[in-house]
Amino acid sequence: MAMTGDESRPWWQEGVIYQIYPRSFADSNGDGIGDLRGITQRLDYLRELGVDGLWLSPIHPSPMFDFGYDVSDYRGIAPEFGTLDDFRTLLAEAHARGIRIVLDLVLNHTSHLHPWFLESRSSRESPKRDWYIWHDGRGGGQPPNNWQAAFGGGAWEWDEATRQLYLHSFLVEQPDLNWRNPAVEQAMMEIVAYWLDMGVDGFRLDVINWLVKDEQLRDNPTKLLGRRPYDRQRHIYDRNRPETIDVVRRLRALVDRWPERMLVGEVYNEPPGNSSLSAEYCAGGEGLHLAFDFSLLYASWSAEDFGRVIDTWDGLLPEPCWPTWTLGNHDQRRILSRYASESNRLARGRVASTLVLTLRGTPFLYYGEEIGMLDVKIPRARLQDPLAKAYWPLPVGRDPARTPMQWSAAAHAGFSTVEPWLPVHPEYTEINVERAEADPGSLLHWYRRVIRLRREEVALRRGTYRRLPQGSGVLGYVREHEGERVAVLLNFESRPRPAALPTGASWRVLAASGHRVGDRIAGGTIELEPDGVLVAKATAPQARTLGSEARGRAAAGR
Ligand code: GLC
Ligand code: CA
Repeated sequence: MAMTGDESRPWWQEGVIYQIYPRSFADSNGDGIGDLRGITQRLDYLRELGVDGLWLSPIHPSPMFDFGYDVSDYRGIAPEFGTLDDFRTLLAEAHARGIRIVLDLVLNHTSHLHPWFLESRSSRESPKRDWYIWHDGRGGGQPPNNWQAAFGGGAWEWDEATRQLYLHSFLVEQPDLNWRNPAVEQAMMEIVAYWLDMGVDGFRLDVINWLVKDEQLRDNPTKLLGRRPYDRQRHIYDRNRPETIDVVRRLRALVDRWPERMLVGEVYNEPPGNSSLSAEYCAGGEGLHLAFDFSLLYASWSAEDFGRVIDTWDGLLPEPCWPTWTLGNHDQRRILSRYASESNRLARGRVASTLVLTLRGTPFLYYGEEIGMLDVKIPRARLQDPLAKAYWPLPVGRDPARTPMQWSAAAHAGFSTVEPWLPVHPEYTEINVERAEADPGSLLHWYRRVIRLRREEVALRRGTYRRLPQGSGVLGYVREHEGERVAVLLNFESRPRPAALPTGASWRVLAASGHRVGDRIAGGTIELEPDGVLVAKATAPQARTLGSEARGRAAAGR
């Protein structure tokens, strides 16, 4: 095997990361709530799936107004999820299987019950007063500016006892920290160090681009269109302030003192321009290792739209920056509920997963997508998400994608022995892990196969990305590394479409609908099945062909 001096790449670039919503993954003690022991018990399933890292949504003590995104103790474990010992066991057992653990870190705000905030609100003279963003009202008790809370209403809450207002970008129960105060940064850096010392492999940084607010608290400019008042503002003074990137750089410098640790930031921005704003957080390799920009998540199901956002995000992140790809998380509707109907679920699940797993960048999967879990319709009486309650009956709630993992056809889908905190999908006897494992044609087996391909094919992990021109409905690209080429063709339409496989080589099928693994296909026009997929590797590449392609690439300016 040729040594290039480039043999080792960090795990977070080559690996696949799987997000767990701990409350809904596996309940080990029969209280209807998922927990850390439940996750530990399912590690072999995750190893079998082939993932390299787990991102756990917040597991710290919290009054759970926002299900853990309102932290009241950054060094502990929420009792409903277990103990610190349970966490150490999970970490050790995961590491023993080569699986890393990434914690979710909420730096922008704490719970209103965090001791820091209790102290801060106790009096204007409190030494922690300036840890949060307090301000006098504009005459008549009016808020200091026009900022809105992302979860509804204005962003300022009046505190009668001390007769000032505090800022909350999300719920009233989530007061924003004042990152202009160095003591806040210092305290958070110590928390980061505490978990890294314990062996945690990295952090997903919640709403990281919200961190530092405009020093003068200027009004955001308004815009005409948008569903909610929040959407009718341009968030230029409450988000993406340049000082935030400085904080991110300092966080990165700290994290780099431990080997192989990783920071992935949630950098949500509205289109247009969302991806370029998100890309800035890489800071030329001195900021976040990875960032979520959400453009793929918001793309509509067409080869053209997907192709456009992929080219944009990929193009914005030349190495050492590195893209992430994801189609699902705990804030979004589930992939197949957004993009598929009953008749094409399996096929579109293959298209979506193949895309995320074969692009240049790190794939993030959301628990349950590998078995094709769907949104669950939640009756009003069982709503949990504060966003859903605030905006009922608008369909903005996040509960539908946070329901219990469907392990088997047993009662409560094998998730728990009692009725879980959110209802299980009514079709769980059909859609569950046990059944998927028994069926070689299932989506689960497809995920396992494509994840394994990433491990086997260096071109899929490290290769360059180049779009292949295609007719309508088809998205095609080639990943290439040191002469090895893997082509991916995806049909976004539910009818057969012609697709172009590069000529001058013969192709061996690695994974496909409509072809057997190992089949040989000549380059040229082929037909893709409805919602079909082809992943194939070039065999015996001819020097002349490579040469002409390189010229083509140069001409296309890539
Ligand atoms: C992020 C989280 C979301 C949470 C919010 C406030 O967007 O993903 O779940 O509600 O931040 O912390
Ligand atoms: Ca439990």
